[in-house]
Amino acid sequence: MTDRFHDIALTVNGEPVRERVDARRTLVDFLREDLDLTGSHVGCEHGVCGACTVRLDGAIVRGCLTLAVQCDGATVETIEGVADSGAIADLREAFERRNALQCGFCTPGMLLTAQALLARGGVPSRDEIRAHLSGNYCRCTGYHAIVDAVEAVAQARAGQVK
Ligand code: FES
Ligand code: FES
Repeated sequence: MTDRFHDIALTVNGEPVRERVDARRTLVDFLREDLDLTGSHVGCEHGVCGACTVRLDGAIVRGCLTLAVQCDGATVETIEGVADSGAIADLREAFERRNALQCGFCTPGMLLTAQALLARGGVPSRDEIRAHLSGNYCRCTGYHAIVDAVEAVAQARAGQVK
């Protein structure tokens, strides 16, 4: 029988991390329960809602569909690290100003997903924003305000202030 527990070494929000993890431990549970990074949320636990979105080697992934052991040697960024970097300060401000969050459960995943779209540059259409965010569920806002906020930031970053 193969070992159930594995030693992993990775970088999380710029800090080196070494832990022994159960082979079945998901990345989001590892982040929340072992590293106390509770900004990533757990909703559906089967890849549908996007609440668990984090960055793995620069790309957004579902933390509930990624195993911690798969992240050995990788770089992981959570909403805490990305927010601390200041990279999404304008998005956070736009979400607040435009009432794009209510309970906030979806918001970390929304912000990371929106940032991945905006990082491509240019100003996406509202349809493109909706399509890009379609894997992130929000139970509160009706999405309109979220699209407004992302569109406003895209325009501002492109120098087209509304
Ligand atoms: S908790 Fe991962 S997609 Fe819903
Ligand atoms: S703000 Fe409540 S789920 Fe989106």
